Amino acid sequence: MVRVDLSGAKQFFKGSGPDFELARQAHETLASGTGAGSDFTGWMAFPRYMKEHELDRIVAAAETIRSRSKALVVIGIGGSYLGARGAIELLRPIPAKEDPQIFFVGNGLSADYLCDTLDRLGDADFDVNVISKSGTTLEPAVAFRIFREKLAQKYGADADKHIFATTDAARGVLKGLANENGWESFVIPDDIGGRFSVLTAVGLLPMAVAGIDVRKVIDCAIEEMEALDLRSPENPAWQYAAARQHLYRSGYGVEILGCYEPSFRFMAEWWKQLYGESEGKDGIGIFPASVEFTADLHSMGQYIQEGARIIYESIVRFDRSLRSYAIPFEQANADGLNYVAGRNMSEVSSIAADAVKEAHISGGVPNIQINVPRRDEAGFAALVCFFEMACGISGYISGVNPFNQPGVEAYKKNMFRMLGKPGAV
Ligand code: PA5
Repeated sequence: MVRVDLSGAKQFFKGSGPDFELARQAHETLASGTGAGSDFTGWMAFPRYMKEHELDRIVAAAETIRSRSKALVVIGIGGSYLGARGAIELLRPIPAKEDPQIFFVGNGLSADYLCDTLDRLGDADFDVNVISKSGTTLEPAVAFRIFREKLAQKYGADADKHIFATTDAARGVLKGLANENGWESFVIPDDIGGRFSVLTAVGLLPMAVAGIDVRKVIDCAIEEMEALDLRSPENPAWQYAAARQHLYRSGYGVEILGCYEPSFRFMAEWWKQLYGESEGKDGIGIFPASVEFTADLHSMGQYIQEGARIIYESIVRFDRSLRSYAIPFEQANADGLNYVAGRNMSEVSSIAADAVKEAHISGGVPNIQINVPRRDEAGFAALVCFFEMACGISGYISGVNPFNQPGVEAYKKNMFRMLGKPGAV
């Protein structure tokens, strides 16, 4: 499990501080399936189901793709995109030479990005994993039409063998097309919403193709979900959920998630969707933002230190780095850096993180520290389970339905009308 350290937030707590009784009640509501949106809480038990059902087929499909293709084009947006990208960038930030390159498309409507991806793909062998629960989301549907055409031009009658569809078990345009054309398909379960789907085939197939050990991810996730069912203030999900809701009620309306590993960037994007879509409704909600340290200390650092005092920060720290590099000694010391010579880069990074924490706290920014053992499969599973569980608990503490996203429909309605989609008003 991750460990939550609230010592950097304590001095900002009001009264008796975070209310663990509220966390207990919210956890009970979540676990008993009695709260709003409870028909979308299948993600808690899903890792075990996954291990016993689709996992072997996902691993086999990934092996097929890895053995024959130089690239996998992953088509999806929102919850059908961010988790896979977050995982792959966290665990495989620079792909090994033997790993297929993973391209993400269908997450926007940029012609430039699409054409650049096609150019980069060139005449390399590739497979496509199209991911869409509804099958009707415009961005991935447009990209899929384009890449289906490319597959047909390249592989002719065999094009259908290069398409893997991750979608609803029975309904929707994509499922219909998959049945009609014989594409291998994987299921996005009915009771799991997009932003909670990273441990389904939505995330696991692209991750496995990228060389991530998805069996290990699922084994760890099974343990994590069980451990996070702990009904006690010792539960890190309670600590995080109760602390952030307490800070919100004390006037801190913006949460900045930060990390000292640049590979964490898309995990932060995944987290922003998870918390933003789950809690930003009914006129309330903590605004989720993210920063990449130390880089953003040289840009956003000014605002964090001295801007409007509405921010608290949650910092993910890995206990140990995977690699080490000692800063070299230089006799001439022309750059004056010998005071750090011989020290490991990770030691310097850790000292920088302590220094930043101290500065931000003294500048009036509460600090929640989330400690993770390592940036590996187990660490990834621990983070995902922790953030998902805490999100459900935090959402119920705040009084919203954390599992719907009615606000996402507004722009779609307008866009379909303006584009002249049949039936759109
Ligand atoms: O969380 C969500 O529900 C959204 O982000 C969806 O995942 C996103 O809109 C993509 O939808 P679909 O998978 O139906 O294409």
